[in-house]
Amino acid sequence: MADDILSYSSEKKGIVTPNLTSEEQSSDIVSLRPSSFSEYIGQTSTVETLKIAIQAAKMRNESLEHILFHGPPGLGKTTVSHIIANEMGKDLTVTSGPTLEKGGDLIGILTNLGQGDILFIDEIHRIPKIVEEFLYPAMEDFAVDFVFDKGIHARSHRYQLKQFVLIGATTRVGLLSSPLRDRFGIFRTLDFYSLDQLIIIIKRSAAILHTIVSNDGAIELAKRSRGTPRIANRLLKRVRDYSQVRSDGKVTKENVNAALELEGIDNLGLTSLDKNYLKTIINFYGGGPVGIEAISATLQEENDTLVDVVEPFLLKIGLVLRTSSGRKASSKAYQHLNIKP
Ligand code: ADE
Repeated sequence: MADDILSYSSEKKGIVTPNLTSEEQSSDIVSLRPSSFSEYIGQTSTVETLKIAIQAAKMRNESLEHILFHGPPGLGKTTVSHIIANEMGKDLTVTSGPTLEKGGDLIGILTNLGQGDILFIDEIHRIPKIVEEFLYPAMEDFAVDFVFDKGIHARSHRYQLKQFVLIGATTRVGLLSSPLRDRFGIFRTLDFYSLDQLIIIIKRSAAILHTIVSNDGAIELAKRSRGTPRIANRLLKRVRDYSQVRSDGKVTKENVNAALELEGIDNLGLTSLDKNYLKTIINFYGGGPVGIEAISATLQEENDTLVDVVEPFLLKIGLVLRTSSGRKASSKAYQHLNIKP
């Protein structure tokens, strides 16, 4: 039975996936990703922490401690993990919480890791409890415990793993159990990027894509990227297409405005989902406070999408407020949507 478990091939089941969105799977996005800290823009204190930890680990000839990244999607949790693996000169295996359904799924992956290799688990808050139980000894003692048979015949066998590094990523650190959270030695929250940082990222990406971007074009794109490099790169590609087909191929402010109007993205970078979210609070619930379940029921949108994708930026720019009794639209939200309070 042990052999059955140990020979479990996670690759066959597609559990170890590059875990990229379809957008990221295109070779363009992969190549837009910085591969070293020297190319990486923003998240300065996180990068500093990581560089120090990497250098110290190398000096002591040790592995890194386990790392937990928290923050909204698109801010670079996966990118930074790739960079860490590159800088440590180790292999990176990427998987995600919801794909690990059984203990065996995780064991298959863990037993294939080499000394110092890195396991990246995205959406780690979504791993089932049963799989989480296997993670504790794996993280702490680099071992997995098998139990054979049941009742009075039950026997336990401990299998020693190589010393690996777990990098967990989550949009909801509050949903992690404290035993799991406590087993990470490094915990960093990634923040939204500033306008200046996004402008540099857009210019860097445009250069990689052999696209000319004017200064005001880059500024306009950055303003509409919701503080998020993944969105900046996606919008850059839409404007590049538009400029090529309808204009002179240059990413200018005029082309950004015209292309993003077609995409339904407004001057703050809000999509129709963002605006419908705000309008639901204002028009259906008198501006709030209202609970997230009521908003998601009215919008017929997943609760998780609203909490993970929509709300963080609206909270950041102060269009929505979170109070103990629920979400409220701010006066800035009324102004932005041109609705009289
Ligand atoms: N592309 C996406 N994120 C980036 C970052 N932080 N720095 C440089 N290029 C990026």
